[in-house]
Amino acid sequence: MENMEKEAYAEIESAANLEELENARVKYVGRKSELALELRALKDLPLEKRKAVAPKLQNLRRSIESLLELKKTELSKTKTSGQIDLTRPGIKHRFGHLHPLTIMERKVIDIFSSMNFSVINGPEIETEHYNFDALNIPANHPAREMWDTFWLKPASGNEKHKEKTLLRTHTSPMQVRYMETHTPPFQIIVPGRVFRYEATDASHETNFHQVEGLMVGKDISLANFKYVIEQFLKKMFGPETEFRFRPSYFPFTEPSLEVDIRLVGGREKENDTFRAIAESRKSEWLEVMGAGMVNQKVFEAAHYNPGEWQGFAFGVGLERLAMLKYKIPDIRLFYSDDLRFINQF
Ligand code: PHE
Repeated sequence: MENMEKEAYAEIESAANLEELENARVKYVGRKSELALELRALKDLPLEKRKAVAPKLQNLRRSIESLLELKKTELSKTKTSGQIDLTRPGIKHRFGHLHPLTIMERKVIDIFSSMNFSVINGPEIETEHYNFDALNIPANHPAREMWDTFWLKPASGNEKHKEKTLLRTHTSPMQVRYMETHTPPFQIIVPGRVFRYEATDASHETNFHQVEGLMVGKDISLANFKYVIEQFLKKMFGPETEFRFRPSYFPFTEPSLEVDIRLVGGREKENDTFRAIAESRKSEWLEVMGAGMVNQKVFEAAHYNPGEWQGFAFGVGLERLAMLKYKIPDIRLFYSDDLRFINQF
């Protein structure tokens, strides 16, 4: 029996596949195995002897059986892994996509962060004060017509909150909100969603995004603005990008200007999108942002000492940047649920 035990263990261990293992099982613990015969013969033994031998035989059978079980699991595993078909097509993992506006917002944040601007957020529901009055746009001022506004219904019966609220028409209200709680020098950008009560078409949406910029210090000048915006545009659209300042009007900046980038001609590299836009607009230039030196009236609204500070502010439309960068012909695509659009990014 001792010999048989060693032999059985060795044979089970060396079984190369399930078939060999089954042969070993039949041979050592099968119904006709030596062990089975001995177990069956037990009943013919005298009681004393039976008591001595039976447990040993039963233990032996049990340990052979458990070794068989172990080996069987081991071989079953090798069996499957041995059968991996490397030519089968893999399981394709599906990943989500970042929305092009998110990509664009992150790019803008990256560029300004590298110039030490902090990123600030503000509320989408604003008061008339921050969106207009504090920015030198009093009620009945014709400049209010520059921003078609979604006014919100006042909460009925709430006499304490009489101030009119609206969906912010630009990110500029954050200028005064930020200045009220911070002392210069500082430089911030405010990315955010804005709303205009306008008819939609390929270049207008009721809902779009801006990035506001504000840098204030003792002697910040238009030259600082020119440098910062040059860095921004060249990092965004390439080192060849040309731009110009064109005089403009905003109640909260003085002087005010708009920044145009050159679409065709000049030193600018060949670019189909730019050329197509230039053709459709019949102009070599495209405005990308409004800007100017912060009007002293805005500093006054933030309770700064008159004449103590100066700075520049700008507001750039995120959709317009993304349309230029990714050749997107229609602003409405950003808010469509068309996956063929989103999947390209
Ligand atoms: N808020 C202006 C707009 O939405 C843009 C702007 C921002 C202009 C800051 C000047 C300074 O049209």
